Amino acid sequence: MTDWWLQTDRLLAKAWTLLARGVTDRLAAARHPVLATVSPEGWADARTVVLRGAVAESALLTVHTDSASDKVAALRANPRCALLVWDAKAQLQIRIRARARITPGDAKTWAELPDGARQVYGGTPPSGTSLSVPENHVPGPDLARFAVLDCQAEEIDLLHLGRDRHRRARYARVDGWHGQWIAP
Ligand SMILES: Cc1cc2nc3c(=O)[nH]c(=O)nc-3n(C[C@H](O)[C@H](O)[C@H](O)COP(=O)(O)O)c2cc1C
Repeated sequence: MTDWWLQTDRLLAKAWTLLARGVTDRLAAARHPVLATVSPEGWADARTVVLRGAVAESALLTVHTDSASDKVAALRANPRCALLVWDAKAQLQIRIRARARITPGDAKTWAELPDGARQVYGGTPPSGTSLSVPENHVPGPDLARFAVLDCQAEEIDLLHLGRDRHRRARYARVDGWHGQWIAP
C-alpha cells in the first residue's frame, strides 16, 4: 500500500494495520505503546505496556495488567486514558484517547500466557510499595490479580512525517471516524 498518507481514510487504515501488527509481532513498534492515565491527584502518568489486542472495527485496544497497580486505581477513578505509538519505519505517530474498562482476566486468557508473563501479575507486596531491598519482592503468579484493560478509542490523532511535508489528521468516534486534516 503506497502513499497511504495522502488520504485520511487510508491513513487511519494504516494506523490500525500497524496497531494490529503490534499484537502479533514482538518487534513491531506498536508492540509497546505508552499508556497515559490521570492520577487521583491530577498528575499525568505514562508507562510502557504490551499491546494485547487491537480491533479496528470496534476501535478497541487491549492491555493486560495487575489489578493492584496504580494505573488500575487511576482508571477506576477516571477511565480516560491515552495510548501513544511512534512507528519510526512508517514515520507515523499514533495518539489515541480512550476510555478504559477494567475486567478480571479470564482463566482461558491466563492459560494462554507464557509462564514468565504470568509472574508479573500478583507480586507481593503490590507494585509501587516501598522495599528495603529489591529481593524483598516476591513475584506472582496470581490469577485473581490478572486484569484486562479494554480501551475504547474515542479520538485518534495521526501525524505522518512525509518527505515532502508533515500531514496530520484527527478522527472521532462520534463522527463515525470521519477524518479531518489539521495543521501539523
Ligand atoms: C517493555 C515493557 C513492557 C511492559 N508491559 C506492561 C504491561 O503490559 N502491563 C503492565 O501493567 N505493565 C507493563 N510494564 C510495566 C509498566 O511500564 C509499569 O512499570 C508498571 O505497570 C507499573 O505502572 P503503574 O504504577 O503506573 O501502574 C511494562 C514495562 C516495560 C518496560
